Amino acid sequence: MFPAPLVRRFLIAYPESMPPRLEVDLAPGHKTGLVLRNPVMPASGTFSWGFEFAKHFDINALGAVVSKGVTMAPRGGNRQPRVAQTPAGMLNSIGLQNVGISEVIDELAAAWAKWKTPVIVNIAGDTVDEFGRMAAMLDGIPGIAALELNISCPNVDVGGMEIGQDPASAARATRAAVRKTDLPVIVKLTPNVTDPALLARACADEGAAALCAINTVVGMAIDLKRRRPVLPRAKGGLSGPAIKPIALRMVYDVSQAVRIPVIGCGGISTGEDAIEFLMAGATAIQVGTATFANPRALLDVLEGMTAWLAANNVADVNDIIACAHPVPA
Ligand SMILES: Cc1cc2nc3c(=O)[nH]c(=O)nc-3n(C[C@H](O)[C@H](O)[C@H](O)COP(=O)(O)O)c2cc1C
Repeated sequence: MFPAPLVRRFLIAYPESMPPRLEVDLAPGHKTGLVLRNPVMPASGTFSWGFEFAKHFDINALGAVVSKGVTMAPRGGNRQPRVAQTPAGMLNSIGLQNVGISEVIDELAAAWAKWKTPVIVNIAGDTVDEFGRMAAMLDGIPGIAALELNISCPNVDVGGMEIGQDPASAARATRAAVRKTDLPVIVKLTPNVTDPALLARACADEGAAALCAINTVVGMAIDLKRRRPVLPRAKGGLSGPAIKPIALRMVYDVSQAVRIPVIGCGGISTGEDAIEFLMAGATAIQVGTATFANPRALLDVLEGMTAWLAANNVADVNDIIACAHPVPA
């Protein structure tokens, strides 16, 4: 039917022009599963509830959407100023400003249910038990595909990093949530610990479907004129390119310590940054601070990552995950 030279050309060209396979599974073996069409998603707190961005690009192009941290009651957040620029990133002390869990259940989830891309709700309990109560409230709500436990926020007086710095408390928070929901539970780790592997194992042993590394690194800035800290709470969370090497090291260590998927987060702004995280052991990645300078950062990372895979003849993104791990002797 087709002239032979054309068929030959098609057969030779086709394998090269096949786009790489991007699908990843963040909860293999879990009841509901969490298969993403690609490994790129926003980092909590840098994408609001997703609706603003949905006006500017097709949200379904993303692997997943991650919500702002949700608390039991609505919160107004910390006093201003809440952010400070640093040479290679930013400090924030937002203090979990959010609409509260009832509005998420009653209003936002119904709108998320219309998207094809899964929505992961980031929850922040004040106590270990509150993580369980919030998980129970969100269980079975259409539009919510998974939970991410924020046991790593450095900008609140109770809960947050206080829970995430202690392996026993981190394990209890994970257990409390896992027992109360069929949704996959992702636990977001703080880098502000001596041994992240210990923390990771404690959460994995209690049934976490996946881990996310990392939340922000505690830092501060001084206002020379006022001779006072810039942020009213003195310290804040450092994010952006400055923390990328720390985040990479944590992904590398944590992904060798557990058998569940790890999501890499911290300073990613290009496709090649994302590839580094995958090679270090991440199954998926989150983009945060980069979005503030470039609202299309997520799409740029996805396009750059896909182009890198194609240019390097990687047919399936899963083939490069953890390729930088030490080779067993
Ligand atoms: C303004 C701001 C708000 C954030 N809010 C949350 C939050 O609500 N919950 C959470 O788990 N992490 C929050 N984070 C941390 C990010 O999700 C991410 O872990 C961190 O910024 C590192 O990634 P990045 O360097 O790509 O920004 C926030 C970060 C920023 C900059």
